Amino acid sequence: ALLDGGAKPLAGRTAVVTSGPTHEPIDPVRYIANRSSGRQGHAIAAALARLGADVTLVSGPVTIPDPKGVKVIHVEQAAEMLDAVLARLPADIAVMVAAVADWRVATLNTEKIKKQPGEGPPPLMLTENPDILKTVGHSDKRPTVVVGFAAETQDVESNGRVKLQKKGADLIVANDVSPETGIMGGTRNSVKLITAEGIEAWPDLSKEDVADRLAGWIATRLT
Ligand code: CTP
Ligand code: CA
Repeated sequence: ALLDGGAKPLAGRTAVVTSGPTHEPIDPVRYIANRSSGRQGHAIAAALARLGADVTLVSGPVTIPDPKGVKVIHVEQAAEMLDAVLARLPADIAVMVAAVADWRVATLNTEKIKKQPGEGPPPLMLTENPDILKTVGHSDKRPTVVVGFAAETQDVESNGRVKLQKKGADLIVANDVSPETGIMGGTRNSVKLITAEGIEAWPDLSKEDVADRLAGWIATRLT
């Protein structure tokens, strides 16, 4: 309501948020990962909590602190992230922000791979990781509001629309992560909201402001 600073429109609602990268081990000392600071996902978890939601944040390895007012589950790999997310269902809200590694090595090396002089680098066989957002979006315990992100370096809108459809999401928050935008690892974000109804471009905002607006969008969608 107007001027109601204490409004908790998400009181009684549960939310699960993923954030950060995943690390997929190659051997005991090496891993495959995406670039992600976790700033946007962590800010969204905190924003949902401020609106009264009971929030579980499933975070990959990040260097930023756990957000306030949120239950945090720390994981490393995509498979662990999926298990932790599914364990939180049913939930009212899912916001999948993590930059999940699309692949992991097919057979884990339990010993450190050593350089073999004369043999060249070792071939790495990869296998696809589970798609957490897609699994949640098509789950029989599907949350009422399912939100995904789309990190693109080109064709942001069309790629975002395809992801909305494929993943069974209500909203894709698409952003251009081309290096020249400075979004990856930065503190600001410039996003487009893609829904079945159309596309809405938000101005350049801090990641906290994107989080607050998104939490508001979700609250409106639920009431
Ligand atoms: N996502 C996920 N699990 C994966 C891959 C992606 O949950 N294994 C989620 C991300 O958290 C994000 C959305 O799916 O919310 C889109 O991620 P993105 O990497 O942009 O899309 P992909 O489907 O992986 O396609 P591609 O990387 O080929 O563009
Ligand atoms: Ca991907």
